[in-house]
Amino acid sequence: MMDQHPRAQSPTNPGSAVFRSALNLPDRREGKVRDTYTLPGDTLAEPNTPASQDRILMVASDRISAFDVVMPTPIPGKGVLLTRVAAFWLRWIESHGLCHTHLLSTDADTIPDSAFAPDSTLRRDLVGRVTIGRRCRVIPIECVVRGYLEGSGWKDYQQTGAVCGVQLPSGLRQCDRLPEPVFTPATKADEGHDENISFETAAASVGEALMAWLRERSLAIYAAAAEHAQERGIIIADTKFEFGIPLDPTGDPTNEEPILIDEALTPDSSRFWPADRYEPGHAQPSYDKQFVREYLQSLAESGVWDKSPPGPELPAEVIAGTLARYREAAERLMA
Ligand SMILES: Nc1ncnc2c1ncn2[C@@H]1O[C@H](COP(=O)(O)OP(=O)(O)OP(=O)(O)O)[C@@H](O)[C@H]1O
Ligand SMILES: [Mg+2]
Repeated sequence: MMDQHPRAQSPTNPGSAVFRSALNLPDRREGKVRDTYTLPGDTLAEPNTPASQDRILMVASDRISAFDVVMPTPIPGKGVLLTRVAAFWLRWIESHGLCHTHLLSTDADTIPDSAFAPDSTLRRDLVGRVTIGRRCRVIPIECVVRGYLEGSGWKDYQQTGAVCGVQLPSGLRQCDRLPEPVFTPATKADEGHDENISFETAAASVGEALMAWLRERSLAIYAAAAEHAQERGIIIADTKFEFGIPLDPTGDPTNEEPILIDEALTPDSSRFWPADRYEPGHAQPSYDKQFVREYLQSLAESGVWDKSPPGPELPAEVIAGTLARYREAAERLMA
């Protein structure tokens, strides 16, 4: 069963806007934007293949969050764009030999009928929003790479001249490009904000050799992806990767190499800036949430909204503008 928002058909999806999914599948978890489930192994699949094993199912809704608050109004079709961008990058990363990934399929037909209410015609609303991946033991480190100085990196730098223990040149301005990209790990906090940690602290928690591998892979993926995006007019200022160890058999029990999981290089996991408007020294317009943030900021300044939940409904022009920017980013990156 899907909750459908009264507003708007999605222009990118034959189905409707999806605000929340409620599938009859185990382990439902609701993030700010995506709902995740366990997709039980396909009993008809070849034994000991990934498809015969339990998989993870991620459904990208049309929810949008800003200032850490999920808005009550969906951006119809945003989840479809997000899914396409993430799948594009995961395939791109595989095909460029950068890292193996969890991506198995984006085919909504893989979901069993039993996951839907008997009379449901709503399966089609999931088309384009579904990512099915190999289930992993998640490595509890957010692998952040920064090519530019913004966000918590900029905050840390102003206080200490370093980010996650990586010393940086003095005199850098907000949003300046770094001499070279830095790996700045963070803890995966269940609640509240992730906390930046030093490489050594991360190594003490998951092991030095594993951290060295994660740093090397993360920097390699970022460098290649940032170059691809730059050529298409988009700066990937920073991004976050997650890795995991597959729980399904690989055929080689000694091969425990991590794979890239979750989403990658989307506007939700990265800062995307339009390259032609880049100007260090102050905050940059963001590719995706600029319209929403500016609108909410104006409400906050006029005392209408105090940045705590629940968020206000978004007007049609903010929805349209946001969707147009999402679509532009997706089209540029995948061109
Ligand atoms: N292949 C995988 N195997 C196991 N867990 C995975 C896999 N891919 C992603 N995950 C996990 O699934 C979850 C996806 O949740 P999601 O990012 O939507 O919400 P969240 O992280 O709880 O909240 P937020 O909205 O703040 O990101 C993450 O915890 C991620 O670590
Ligand atoms: Mg997440």
